[in-house]
Amino acid sequence: MKPQLKKFMDAIGKDAVAIIPAAHEVTRSYDTEYKFRQDNDFLYLTGFPEPDAVAVIAPGNKKNPYTLFVRPRDPEMETWFGRREGVEGAKKNYGADKTLPIEKFAKEFGKLLDGHDKLYYRFGRYEWLDKLLLQYLSTQRYRRLKTAYPPHTIIDPTLIIGEMRLHKTTEEVAFMQKAGDIAAEAHVLAMQNCKPGMNESEIESIIEHHFRMSGASGAAYNSIIGGGDNATILHYVENNMTLKDGDLLLVDAGCEYQGYASDITRTFPVNGKFTQAQRDIYDVVLDVQIACCEATKVGTTIKQRQELSIELLTEGMKKIGLLKGDTKKLIKKKAYFKYYMHGVGHYLGLDVHDAGRYFTDQQAKHSRPFEAGMVLTVEPGIYVPPDDKDAPAKFRGIGVRIEDDVLVTESGNVNLTAKVPKHAEEIEEIMAKAKK
Ligand code: GLY
Ligand code: MN
Ligand code: MN
Repeated sequence: MKPQLKKFMDAIGKDAVAIIPAAHEVTRSYDTEYKFRQDNDFLYLTGFPEPDAVAVIAPGNKKNPYTLFVRPRDPEMETWFGRREGVEGAKKNYGADKTLPIEKFAKEFGKLLDGHDKLYYRFGRYEWLDKLLLQYLSTQRYRRLKTAYPPHTIIDPTLIIGEMRLHKTTEEVAFMQKAGDIAAEAHVLAMQNCKPGMNESEIESIIEHHFRMSGASGAAYNSIIGGGDNATILHYVENNMTLKDGDLLLVDAGCEYQGYASDITRTFPVNGKFTQAQRDIYDVVLDVQIACCEATKVGTTIKQRQELSIELLTEGMKKIGLLKGDTKKLIKKKAYFKYYMHGVGHYLGLDVHDAGRYFTDQQAKHSRPFEAGMVLTVEPGIYVPPDDKDAPAKFRGIGVRIEDDVLVTESGNVNLTAKVPKHAEEIEEIMAKAKK
């Protein structure tokens, strides 16, 4: 049993039972599926990699606190679609106290729920299971009054699991460091191989090839490879245009290692040399990024870090002539928002935008201070729309973002993606060396 599951059991207590489902395969088109990706809460608690499984966790059940329903072995299905652990393998290799074929779930789960006050279950994720649970609940009303003792309180486990996922263990940090290292190497390769006339897709393939060659399962999200104006589209993923001499290239790409994501952005000149206008914007973003990395430490709140990024970016935009006026007034009227319209970062872990609450209260008014064990991205940017008449012509169509992944520690923080350079001179040097 994973230590995470043990901790979850302690958290929900002996009078509770939890139903945690695995993901289901998703059709891509006609009779082909997307590559399977496990549900992260299920993966976190069980480590079981297959679709169509359900874990029933009942800490008060002395004999079988952990029951896992899985796809049974099936020689014909396995010949067509791949190996399965089956009930024996799931028990032997994943520490379940009892394993049953998934086909028996509908008939059996009610018995496992009886005798518990609370049911931990998240509605709204898997329709087939929601339907079963609703049917169960509607029949239990009568039983509850007359005979048995089914759960009377239903609780969404997202908060408990989210809190656990937010604070990384030593093992999780090691996986995230590896994900950071692999992605950092891939970004360096992109810089070294980039040339005018290449297609964005070639850079994408260089990066993702390195991910796969290095033990990552692939990209953690759709890579963003935006040359020129495309860098001003935040979630540009077409990645199919020619890279032009004199343009910048924004690369936002991270990999997934043992389920854990890295999330890195670097912006560099296609021809290896920044123009003065590109450099002006780049250096503003870099200074803000470095300051926000430093601020990612115990005690700073998400809101404070966001405000810091806004203040410094506004000042930087003024310095280079992108904005004019009094800094306080510019901030008040959100003048920066046209050029910086997103958050400075997010939690990172199994999901690229990871689980965990950002506020300390129910009204979402009090921003949460950073705590040791959290991993956050730091990703300020400036994006000048190509048709922005207010901006000096030299800045139009320039998009710059710089993003690292930072682990908060008791004594400060660790940049998990430090292996890819971010100072303009270092980037130019790497690119120049690669040309020789
Ligand atoms: N790559 C997604 C993000 O930076 O949030
Ligand atoms: Mn990010
Ligand atoms: Mn990113």
